Amino acid sequence: MTTDSAIETRGLGKRFGPIEALRDVSLGVPAGQTYGLLGPNGSGKTTLIRLIAGLLRPTAGSLTVLGESMPSRRILAEIGYMPQTAALYQELTVRENVSFFARIYGVPPVRAVDEVLEVVGLSERADSPVYILSSGMRQRASLACALVHHPRLLLLDEPTVGVDPPLRVAFWQYFHRLNQQGVTIIVSSHVMDEAERCDRLVLLRDGLILAEGSAGELREKAGTSTLEEAFLRYAEATGELG
Ligand SMILES: Nc1ncnc2c1ncn2[C@@H]1O[C@H](COP(=O)(O)OP(=O)(O)OP(=O)(O)O)[C@@H](O)[C@H]1O
Ligand SMILES: [Mg+2]
Repeated sequence: MTTDSAIETRGLGKRFGPIEALRDVSLGVPAGQTYGLLGPNGSGKTTLIRLIAGLLRPTAGSLTVLGESMPSRRILAEIGYMPQTAALYQELTVRENVSFFARIYGVPPVRAVDEVLEVVGLSERADSPVYILSSGMRQRASLACALVHHPRLLLLDEPTVGVDPPLRVAFWQYFHRLNQQGVTIIVSSHVMDEAERCDRLVLLRDGLILAEGSAGELREKAGTSTLEEAFLRYAEATGELG
């Protein structure tokens, strides 16, 4: 990979006791692009994101994030992480939650918070406690917390689950604007039309890479017209894994 990689992994593995959540994952994520992680439940998407976020230690191989060998404390302020399950304080308002994350990252909250709430369309609900929000609104609040410190690397674990179609489109437009500003985005998804919006993607199953490339490359290599079919083709070719 070139020096333009935001993330590089070599033979990366993560084992939880008897469970091998990731095995021999070697990939490079180009800077300033949106990179998709696709795979069924339990394929290792969240595990890979948590390794990149520095929340887990690899049990095999190596990982470089924004030029630093992980885990590295220095790089944490450069990363925005939106977990699969929102980690928000239910009793606090949307504004208080986002301000809390801004303070953790040393960002002066007032303007940054208003700006990011505008982006996720929650300005009107800034003073609502999180527990009274709809689940899609909670997703948006969680995204706001990940964005507030203007990270260079954004890790989004299924960010659009429960988000309505118009807002989903708005999220993706915003992701592409961030890419244009040089932000690298890793996004996991089950949704194939979202995968099509990624610059590159990796198909995972049982913690192993089935295939990697742009959506066009993956379809072409598999000789299929849709990514869904391509995924099935790669899975068949790899066979059942023990
Ligand atoms: N902390 C943990 N302790 C033990 N096993 C774990 C832990 N975290 C993940 N695993 C296991 O690792 C495997 C991969 O899980 P992971 O959460 O990465 O999958 P995923 O692709 O994100 O799935 P989903 O689509 O359901 O979110 C699973 O078998 C899971 O049970
Ligand atoms: Mg997951």
